[in-house]
Amino acid sequence: MTQQDPIRRLPAPRAGIADIPRFTPPPPAPAEAILLNTNENRFGASPAVAEAMARDLAEGRMNYYPPIEAEPLNRALAAVHGLDPDCVVSVGGCELLLPLALTAYAGPGDEVVWFGDGFRKFHGYILTAGATPVAVPREADAVGTLLAAVTARTRVVLIDNPGNPTGRMLPAAEIARLRAGLPPEILLMLDEAYVEFADTPRLGLDHVPGAGNVLVFRTLSKAYGLAGLRIGWAAGAAPLIETVKRVIPTFPLARPALAGALAALADREHLARVVAGCRAGREAATVRLRAAGWQVPDSQGNFILLCAGAPGTDPGAAAARLTARGVLVRLIPDFAGAAALRVTIGTPEDMDAFFVALGA
Ligand SMILES: Cc1ncc(COP(=O)(O)O)c(C=O)c1O
Repeated sequence: MTQQDPIRRLPAPRAGIADIPRFTPPPPAPAEAILLNTNENRFGASPAVAEAMARDLAEGRMNYYPPIEAEPLNRALAAVHGLDPDCVVSVGGCELLLPLALTAYAGPGDEVVWFGDGFRKFHGYILTAGATPVAVPREADAVGTLLAAVTARTRVVLIDNPGNPTGRMLPAAEIARLRAGLPPEILLMLDEAYVEFADTPRLGLDHVPGAGNVLVFRTLSKAYGLAGLRIGWAAGAAPLIETVKRVIPTFPLARPALAGALAALADREHLARVVAGCRAGREAATVRLRAAGWQVPDSQGNFILLCAGAPGTDPGAAAARLTARGVLVRLIPDFAGAAALRVTIGTPEDMDAFFVALGA
């Protein structure tokens, strides 16, 4: 028997999978670093979350599976947002829910239209489903550009609103125009991970009762400060949610995560405080950075994008200066052909440290 080259005997992944970029982890940050690089919530979660999780663990029921389809959370989310519980599905983070939902509606031979300057992970989610990503530029008439890209092979239009990394947002009237312009058999997936920080925090959910082809994705990672628990959810017409529930795990959330999520959802005052603090910090930082010569798009998220403007505003140099002073930010080497810096809005103390380190 001849020895075969073991490399050549490896199973080959499905088409497209090798093109999905892996996330490059940033270098380990010192404990005292100020993390403004991953759009986490620097204000923290409601104190009720840790209490509820501790109570849950103390019950010692980890030998039993958690509730099927995270049903208690679906009901709680539906109650908070005035939806039917059959119109809600929860899974361990939108990072999981988005590709699963895509897989249910698009596959090999199908096209998924998205904004090429939107959330970078979308490209990989579409390839995970086996579908073909069709990236369109976000031009002045963004909705017109999306609609013009729709072909007979299009199954899904996937957009982040507010968009990451700019924080720009398509207003309600434009979302309504997009929905009206799409044939009813094409699914509109609206990723609203940051919408709680926006002027219109209900946005996509207003379409849920009436539209049979809109799925709205939300997360508890951002405004609720539960990124470490991994909780994402989606809302849509009952038949769409029923379909998504076919492709999710039977037990999508661990017991302590479920307990924490319910507690976070119940603390509306904490949410309001975080959102108000973040919005105030965002507006103040935007004004100050523009005055210092940076170009900063109007953001509706918990982050802002700094693009070069006046002489001396160099995203690469600013990133190096900030990092050296322990303020971590996200340098995007090629945003619309140039470098840009995405900065998460932190607490007032974080933002003071940011401006001192930036020297602006
Ligand atoms: C636009 C967008 N969608 C989804 C996610 C991921 O959400 P989750 O933490 O629920 O997986 C992020 C995280 O940064 C995001 O920016």
